[in-house]
Amino acid sequence: MTNSLNAQGFLETIKARRTIYGIGKEAVVSDQTIQSIIEEAIQHTPSAFNSQSARVVVLFGEHHDKLWDITTETLRKIVPQDSFEPTQQRMNGFKNGYATVLFFEDMAVVESLQQQFEAYKDNFPTWSQQSNGMLQLVIWTALEAEGLGANLQHYNPLIDDEVKQQWSIPATWKLIAQMPFGKKTVEPNEKEFKSVAEKVKFVK
Ligand SMILES: Cc1cc2nc3c(=O)[nH]c(=O)nc-3n(C[C@H](O)[C@H](O)[C@H](O)COP(=O)(O)O)c2cc1C
Repeated sequence: MTNSLNAQGFLETIKARRTIYGIGKEAVVSDQTIQSIIEEAIQHTPSAFNSQSARVVVLFGEHHDKLWDITTETLRKIVPQDSFEPTQQRMNGFKNGYATVLFFEDMAVVESLQQQFEAYKDNFPTWSQQSNGMLQLVIWTALEAEGLGANLQHYNPLIDDEVKQQWSIPATWKLIAQMPFGKKTVEPNEKEFKSVAEKVKFVK
């Protein structure tokens, strides 16, 4: 199979992905395009032992709004009332987006692997998280490539029970992350980089 994107082109796409907090509801691409991105990403992102334990639910429209209402009300119970305003602003920012990707891991798959491969028992939960992170990056980057802004949030486990109940999520699916996305309304700040020499060694 030929590959239309060389490494440089691929890395340009990787570099272009940023955390975008300013997201709006205006449609940038069709829902069908978003659905295809998610389907391709989940099919082709690797997983340990090809376990394919990642699960994704994409909430559009009123379901997206409901998620951020649930999160807001959950946080309201634990954040002091007189300092809630920044949290409210943050929640409004996510709710302003077009849709949210919920990332899960099916722990039934992970546990089954632990039983089958006793020697790797302790590794499977770590690998499951790593694979899910890979999927998050693939989806985040693909959304960016379509001109959408996204960010990554972790209101789990606080919201797990209500999310499961609201959208009839199977009991074995563990919520890992939430990725609200939408039309970019604010460009990201300049990013600071540690020197690459501090992070990489080439041994020849
Ligand atoms: C594993 C992981 C967890 C993250 N968790 C959060 C989070 O809970 N909330 C948030 O606002 N950003 C979160 N981020 C976003 C990072 O803060 C962000 O990616 C980092 O500062 C680099 O900025 P960039 O995404 O613009 O390149 C997370 C990123 C990663 C990779």
